[in-house]
Amino acid sequence: MNTEKITVAIIGCGSRGKDTYAEAQKKLQDQMQIVAAVDIDPKRLYEMETEYGVPKENCFCSADDFFAQPKMADIAFICTMDKAHYAHAIQAMKAGYHLLLEKPISPYLNECKEIEAAAKKYNRHVIVCHVLRYTAFYKKIKECLQAGVVGDIVSVQAIEAVAYWHQAHSFVRGNWRNQEEACPMILAKCCHDFDILLWLCGKKCKSVSSFGDLRLFKKGNAPEGATARCTDGCPYVDSCPYSAPGYYLGQLRDGKTGWPVNILNSHPTEENIMEALKTGPYGRCVYHCDNDVVDHQVVNMQLEDGTTINFTMCAFTKNGFRKLRIMGTLGEIEGDMETNRIYLKPFAGETTELDVYALSDDFSGHGGGDVQMLREVIALIQNGEASGSSITTIGQSMESHYVAFAAEESRVNNGELVNMSSFLQDQG
Ligand SMILES: NC(=O)c1ccc[n+]([C@@H]2O[C@H](COP(=O)([O-])OP(=O)(O)OC[C@H]3O[C@@H](n4cnc5c(N)ncnc54)[C@H](O)[C@@H]3O)[C@@H](O)[C@H]2O)c1
Repeated sequence: MNTEKITVAIIGCGSRGKDTYAEAQKKLQDQMQIVAAVDIDPKRLYEMETEYGVPKENCFCSADDFFAQPKMADIAFICTMDKAHYAHAIQAMKAGYHLLLEKPISPYLNECKEIEAAAKKYNRHVIVCHVLRYTAFYKKIKECLQAGVVGDIVSVQAIEAVAYWHQAHSFVRGNWRNQEEACPMILAKCCHDFDILLWLCGKKCKSVSSFGDLRLFKKGNAPEGATARCTDGCPYVDSCPYSAPGYYLGQLRDGKTGWPVNILNSHPTEENIMEALKTGPYGRCVYHCDNDVVDHQVVNMQLEDGTTINFTMCAFTKNGFRKLRIMGTLGEIEGDMETNRIYLKPFAGETTELDVYALSDDFSGHGGGDVQMLREVIALIQNGEASGSSITTIGQSMESHYVAFAAEESRVNNGELVNMSSFLQDQG
């Protein structure tokens, strides 16, 4: 087994590229080294240099300048925004890099297919960041399903509770608020869910229908007299649950300086957060933004063997979590990521409660999924083959994206049934 350190180039050094993956290098010092960084924001490059040890001469403020150099690393982490993935992924594969590619692969189905084809053409590993697959929580559920706890899966009920504050941060004020700028919510947020659900069931999807819309975060719902920014003397600044100073300064005062507060400023203080709220996107009234992505959506899926899946995504929950119930011919599994508990309920036996906290000592980023994914990607690059069964290759990830694109097609057509094979044929 090869244990030599792998070398990494990060393209897009923001929340994922820098705060997640560069930060994770601290835990994986013997296994990976970030040797190059690319970002259009000089502040981010400076942080990559001074905080994460990337040599100054290998920090590039344009991807073209980086790709003009001879190959510098074993793998490129593509962590730019959704619409930039395609160009950066193709350029990187051509230049000889394997890829860790942030999800979504691309907001466009044809580009997803082209990236998949390029991975084959250039013979590159392309791992899509479906971080949930690497968590102790979902790995345990998969193991229990493989052990036959529920028999044959017949039906699954799953919810992604986004949390009202996360919706406001990312999908009303932030990067993924507007479909034209990013992509539909069901792709941005829920390609993870479709990936997990299809992986757990081990089947492909046959047909999909979906409903959902943007209920709350629009101008017509603004309370009388609400100002364009929370900091413009809004009369509701102390009472509105979506008040930006209420949330971000509240987090800071509770000592929480990580995500999402550090999106406003990498080194947050009361002064610089207040300044960001007065001038930047995160201080805008949630009823006066240029957002259009949905805040609730349901998706019904029928798999190739008739298994049914009912999935709900909803902004209107206090906390963010996922829960699921897998119902089979011989039993039931209930999983609750909020409490990190799994309940095994065989019909012919006693219920067992599993405490997922006892299964791992790392529950940082995405329930421990971020770091564990990196461990498995490193092993893949070192040895040329995957060490675990959960590795999220582009081929597998495409299935989750197909479902997301089909669900969006159905939603905009008032829940019309989408047959996956005709849909994919029509899309070329
Ligand atoms: N796997 C997950 O669970 C997960 C979670 C959050 C976000 N994401 C995905 O990760 C990607 C990045 O999200 P983020 O939250 O880090 O966003 P971000 O805005 O914090 O970071 C993006 C970075 O890319 C830089 N950038 C923009 N254009 C560039 C260009 N042309 N060349 C080089 N750099 C450029 C920006 O300056 C910024 O630093 C998105 O596609 C997002 O959907 C995945």
